[in-house]
Amino acid sequence: MTAKIIDGKAMSAAERRKIAEETAKLKSERGIVPGLAVIIVGNNPASEIYVRNKHKACIEVGFNSWIYRLNENASQDELNALIDRLNSDDNVHGILCQLPLPGGLSEEEVIDRISPEKDVDAFGMENVGRIMLGRYRFLPCTPAGIMLLLRESGIDIGGKRAVVIGRSNIVGKPMAMLLLNSDATVTVCHSKTVGLSEITREADIIVCAVGKADFLKGDMIKPGAVVIDVGMNRNEDGKLCGDVDFDSAANVASAITPIPGGVGPMTITMLLRNTLTAATHGL
Ligand code: GUN
Repeated sequence: MTAKIIDGKAMSAAERRKIAEETAKLKSERGIVPGLAVIIVGNNPASEIYVRNKHKACIEVGFNSWIYRLNENASQDELNALIDRLNSDDNVHGILCQLPLPGGLSEEEVIDRISPEKDVDAFGMENVGRIMLGRYRFLPCTPAGIMLLLRESGIDIGGKRAVVIGRSNIVGKPMAMLLLNSDATVTVCHSKTVGLSEITREADIIVCAVGKADFLKGDMIKPGAVVIDVGMNRNEDGKLCGDVDFDSAANVASAITPIPGGVGPMTITMLLRNTLTAATHGL
């Protein structure tokens, strides 16, 4: 293996220490305690784990954290009423509704109902528009975490060829925008892309977010490229693995994120950062 391992766990811990210090200062100087409200509807086991981890992370840095549970038969009106209540609660600086929602509930309606000043996922139209324009309020959590990993690893982005594989609203599209806003030349690939390997082999930086175990192989990567793996999958043996075939990729890349301990820990860290931003600059 030749690649340097990008230690997301350590970089995330360092960023959380900074957030905890800034939180203590905000509390002592202005009497503000950042507060995050998380809504979970139904009992999706993966969502349960994410929500528990978000709660734990909030408590560790000194935030208030509230979890609102609605059962899977909750109506859109019930969910909307809860969001309205949290929108007008001054102790709540960030609101997040864990996705996916059970069938029958509109994710779009929920996302658009959260006040843009409290939309710490940066999923709503106003914050997405801001990302497009480079006029950020909140950075989208996973892409922002990846930018921090690149920065902390001393990887230059300006002028580089970046390829993002995946075009989701949560990762692929905003990732492409952040890289573009940092002066990379960006290509977005997806399931209908023809000649994917030729495109990825041109890349200095590859961000892979396709949700398919071991999808990106070493022979699809230019020697010396930086490889960022956003995936979190289980292979046939039940082993946790990313979207990148780590062993073959690490023989070619100059730097690579591992699974676990790469991008994963950064996402919640950036959610904490956004909540602190909301509390510091909010209403
Ligand atoms: N489900 C999976 N990832 C996320 C996320 O970052 N935010 C929300 N709200 N739901 C998710």
